[in-house]
Amino acid sequence: MDITAVKRSYKRYAPVYDTTFRWLLGQQGRRRAAEIANQRPGRVLELGVGTGLTFPFYRDDHDVSGVDISPEMLKKAEQRVSSRNLKFVRELRVMDIEALDYPDETFDTIVAAYVMSVVPDIAKALKEIERVTRPGGQVIFVNHFRDTDNGARAKVEQTMSRFAAQLGWHPDFDLDHMLAHTNLEMTGREDNLPPLGLFTLLRLKKRD
Ligand SMILES: C[S@@+](CC[C@H](N)C(=O)[O-])C[C@H]1O[C@@H](n2cnc3c(N)ncnc32)[C@H](O)[C@@H]1O
Repeated sequence: MDITAVKRSYKRYAPVYDTTFRWLLGQQGRRRAAEIANQRPGRVLELGVGTGLTFPFYRDDHDVSGVDISPEMLKKAEQRVSSRNLKFVRELRVMDIEALDYPDETFDTIVAAYVMSVVPDIAKALKEIERVTRPGGQVIFVNHFRDTDNGARAKVEQTMSRFAAQLGWHPDFDLDHMLAHTNLEMTGREDNLPPLGLFTLLRLKKRD
């Protein structure tokens, strides 16, 4: 799936994203990611921020920037910010995670919820994430990772993966594949997040 396919998918999803994906993905993963981000002072960057479904869970006095490649998704996030007067959102920008327009070591926390299985080039994205994170800073991923036990779920994932370009994400996204592309150190993992225990939250750290 290339960036044109990602943009096309999320242009299509934007008008129905909140009603459909809030239900499909639940809110527990976003809530947990924001809770962890809230524990650390400093700047937060939310990657692939989408329509801003994580915003209700951030501290009011936090300092959050959001980027997304889809102008249509970001427009919804802007509407959420203005209708709820969310002062903790510093900026929302159309930007590719694979080429972040921020100086090195800008952010204390990076959040990416349901995003890493969507970005076309995971190696480039992780390199950029490491670059803009401050030494000692934290990175929080929430994602569905493929079933490594090769059970019934794996069969469904393999079948669905043929339609990745149409779906707008990779149903068989592999955790080890992702971790092989990063020097970030894993510091925590929460499995079986709802709905259906399908999601995992990972906490990683950039070494000091
Ligand atoms: C499944 S949605 C998740 C949105 C949001 N994080 C949430 O929790 O609802 C994936 C988002 O990642 C964005 N995205 C995918 N690849 C991207 C890239 N290379 N750069 C920036 N945004 C990207 C998509 O446009 C989409 O808004």
